[in-house]
Amino acid sequence: MSEIRKIRLVVLISGRGSNLQAILDQAASGALPVEIAVVISNRPGVQGLERARQAGIAALALDHKLFPDRPAFEAALIDLIDGHQPDLVILAGFMRVLTAGFTEHYRGRLLNIHPSLLPKFRGLHTHERAIAAGETEHGASIHFVTAELDGGPVIVQARVPVLPDDDPDTLAARVLAQEHHLYSQAIHWFAEGRLRLSGEQVWFDGKPLDQPLRLENAHTLD
Ligand code: GAR
Repeated sequence: MSEIRKIRLVVLISGRGSNLQAILDQAASGALPVEIAVVISNRPGVQGLERARQAGIAALALDHKLFPDRPAFEAALIDLIDGHQPDLVILAGFMRVLTAGFTEHYRGRLLNIHPSLLPKFRGLHTHERAIAAGETEHGASIHFVTAELDGGPVIVQARVPVLPDDDPDTLAARVLAQEHHLYSQAIHWFAEGRLRLSGEQVWFDGKPLDQPLRLENAHTLD
């Protein structure tokens, strides 16, 4: 149905894999022009690996604890990934800090999803921190990964309201529902060749982006 060439995708995870599941489902339905070459987790035995296997996708654990240091782990991870010759590598709940050696190797073809409206709330516990800061709006971002943690150029964001009764769990669930649309959108644009990174600048449809794109959606609230 789609005339877009399928891109080869490698997905890195650390846990639950609900973003992975959304991508698996959209790839299986033909909505997303990707061939998922392999799913790799730095933690063995996580739910995301099982989700990949259920979908008939190769799933591997590369346990970072078995390596003496971060560069040794990353060298093994690069070997594993590059053996699959991906066009695009995505971090989908991959919770290891990556060094510049890794991020530069994949510059322009490495994406991350982060559960905040970057540059707000880099790092962990984003939902808790958004509530504590009195934010009325929160969300998720897809960005190109560079050496700066959660600091790479942002491509697209989904926004949700923070409601007066929210706790971190209710807010996380509202954001997560948007994440499951957000990654597919960015991957689709990448597959279509509409998205690229030049230096620290995102280009979309041949023009530099001066602010992140917005995921327009009807899923925010009932
Ligand atoms: C997602 O909310 C993702 O945005 C977040 O981890 C969760 C993974 O959920 N990622 C980060 O915090 C990265 N800094 P999932 O395993 O169900 O997709």
